Amino acid sequence: MHDFLPITLNSLKDDARIGCDIYLHINNNGSSRYILYCKSDAAFDDEQKEMLVRKNINKLFIGKDDKKKYNEYLESNLQNILSDERIQPKEKAKIFYGSATNMLQDVFKEPRFENIERSKTFAYNMIDYILKDGRAAYNLLKITSHDYYTYTHSVNVATIGSLFAKSIGLSEKDMKTFCTGMLLHDLGKTMISSDILNKKGSLTDNEYEEMKKHPEMGVSVLRDSGDSFNEEYSIILQHHENCDGSGYPFGLKKEEIHYSSRIVRIIDIYDALTTKRSYSTPQRPFNSLKVIRNEMYNAVDHSMLKSFIKFLGGHEG
Ligand SMILES: [Fe+2]
Repeated sequence: MHDFLPITLNSLKDDARIGCDIYLHINNNGSSRYILYCKSDAAFDDEQKEMLVRKNINKLFIGKDDKKKYNEYLESNLQNILSDERIQPKEKAKIFYGSATNMLQDVFKEPRFENIERSKTFAYNMIDYILKDGRAAYNLLKITSHDYYTYTHSVNVATIGSLFAKSIGLSEKDMKTFCTGMLLHDLGKTMISSDILNKKGSLTDNEYEEMKKHPEMGVSVLRDSGDSFNEEYSIILQHHENCDGSGYPFGLKKEEIHYSSRIVRIIDIYDALTTKRSYSTPQRPFNSLKVIRNEMYNAVDHSMLKSFIKFLGGHEG
């Protein structure tokens, strides 16, 4: 018997082919079972949907093994789903997050042209949603993961960063570039040995030197893919540069660091502190900000940090 995962009826567009079997959960006199409602190759039509709406059924199920196919369906219909007023912002946030992590997992596994283009499209849809839905989009903040994987961290940074970018008035074009850069900022880690990436405890000098190559490697992975970028390269290349010149790879100082990279630096540290790592427990948002203020103050852009604290104060908790 295989396991099932719940999905929401509203995520299924009329007449869409989802690409996996859809089940109903039936509870009858204490016995519970899943029955096939729509086969993978059939379109989920109006009538089927209406019938469920009439019976007030909003939850359907897919087989656990079909999670990837369902996420692919969500990604290709993301724009429609995010602009659908029948879907609650909280539900949208969940759909968004599942689809984003699935997409980035593919990008990190195989950073080829087609997958990298998916991250661009995703970033564009995400910014459209944030700009159109205003405050509702802040629900995205509540869903960011506290478990640490490079791809969940990248989704978190892109989500927090895009909402912050809106709050400080970045233009739509800059927000889209910025969001793509944030999704891909750690792509170079695909070239670093997993022994170093997953090491518990501190890195040796040699391991740290290796780790420090990931910003430059990220840019070369993108160039090798044949895709073309502009400012995104600066975001990736400079996201570990510190305002006091103590960062890497070039030891740039504040005015030499791209504006967007200075924002990413703060959010990158913030998300690393608030998520669970193999060697540390997650910090509360307020504590994380305190750690940045007390221990890394000279590394970050002070006025940017002030704006970020103000932004989080208005939306966290
Ligand atoms: Fe990084």
